[in-house]
Amino acid sequence: MKNLFTPNFGQIPYCLAGREDIVGDITHALDNTPGDPNQTTILVGARGTGKTALLRTMAAVAEQRGWISVNVACLPGLLEDILQQTARNGAAFLEKKDGVRFKSINIASVFGIEWEYARGIEPNWRSRMTDVLDALSEHDLGLLITVDEVDPSLDEMIQLASVYQLLAGDGRKIALLMAGLPHQVSSLLANKSVSFLRRAAQCHLERISDADVEAAFLATVKASGKDIDASALQEAVAAIDGFPYMLQLVGYRSWQATGEALKIADHAVEEGASLAETDMRTRVLKATLDELSDADLLFLQAMLQQEGASEASQIAQALGKSSAHVSTYRRRLLEQGVIAETGRGRFDFALPMLRPYLPEYIASYL
Ligand SMILES: Nc1ncnc2c1ncn2[C@@H]1O[C@H](COP(=O)(O)OP(=O)(O)O)[C@@H](O)[C@H]1O
Ligand SMILES: [Mg+2]
Repeated sequence: MKNLFTPNFGQIPYCLAGREDIVGDITHALDNTPGDPNQTTILVGARGTGKTALLRTMAAVAEQRGWISVNVACLPGLLEDILQQTARNGAAFLEKKDGVRFKSINIASVFGIEWEYARGIEPNWRSRMTDVLDALSEHDLGLLITVDEVDPSLDEMIQLASVYQLLAGDGRKIALLMAGLPHQVSSLLANKSVSFLRRAAQCHLERISDADVEAAFLATVKASGKDIDASALQEAVAAIDGFPYMLQLVGYRSWQATGEALKIADHAVEEGASLAETDMRTRVLKATLDELSDADLLFLQAMLQQEGASEASQIAQALGKSSAHVSTYRRRLLEQGVIAETGRGRFDFALPMLRPYLPEYIASYL
């Protein structure tokens, strides 16, 4: 028996709850001819909504469908890293497929990584990538580039996006899947040099339905060799509240609290959910609130006066501020993924447990 829940950032879960539409659309785009609009997709979501897990899942899907994938974080060295990973993964793919073994020296030449530099002129990144893509296309392989935590302040990110646009425009088999926090994505899209990205497909990673959470939770428990009482399962689903990271935390902690027993009972989920809430507070909620300004926090504090969703006029009144102030801060908080619109001009907290945690955070902060 092994605990199969994965309560760590960036881990592909044993069972991916929900997200079928997104996985389906991107998979379809990979199977389609170059130019399918979903071949350029941006995943947007708050911490813990499953961006990295989805990037990694799609990379695995791509590799089963005649693509190689390279996965980078938005850090200096990004462009060189993409070239090197492409060569390495391309060679590994062919070795598996054809049973050919490349000597490590050959890997570079097969994928055009080594060039004769005429008179000291180094080819630029675009022409090196063109050579690599030519080598891949000889083997009918496409290239999926995944970029996590997009950061428009990194020059190489902008360069990557521009060169990608040219390569994709040439009809090459190349796809770009990016992920970021809402404010990272909105500032990337605001950058004029990559305005074509505004036409990329955007997927907002919203809460997962209770039915999908329940199915994934149960499947993970069963695969780990245990079972769960029906009432305990309902309690777990309620504590998870549609949030992917909580699914893993509640699952992991409840499983551990069950010890050697074969069935996860109510008391184990109670204990598990309470430990999970502590993890959630420190690893998601505090980290998110730490990035906000004082005025953002005052806005959120004013929202506590309503039991449910708030309206702009209520916040304006509570803060004694203009409606322009309120709409500025509402937009900022929407972009951060901290609040979400609930219809009819109303908005509410978007992260689970943020409402009960907020007073505690503000008290410790003042
Ligand atoms: N659809 C999902 N179903 C179940 N668990 C998920 C799902 N998406 C992510 N997770 C889990 O949630 C946690 C956070 O996911 P991660 O991809 O790191 O989030 P993000 O990159 O958005 O911060 C990880 O433990 C991951 O295994
Ligand atoms: Mg991540």
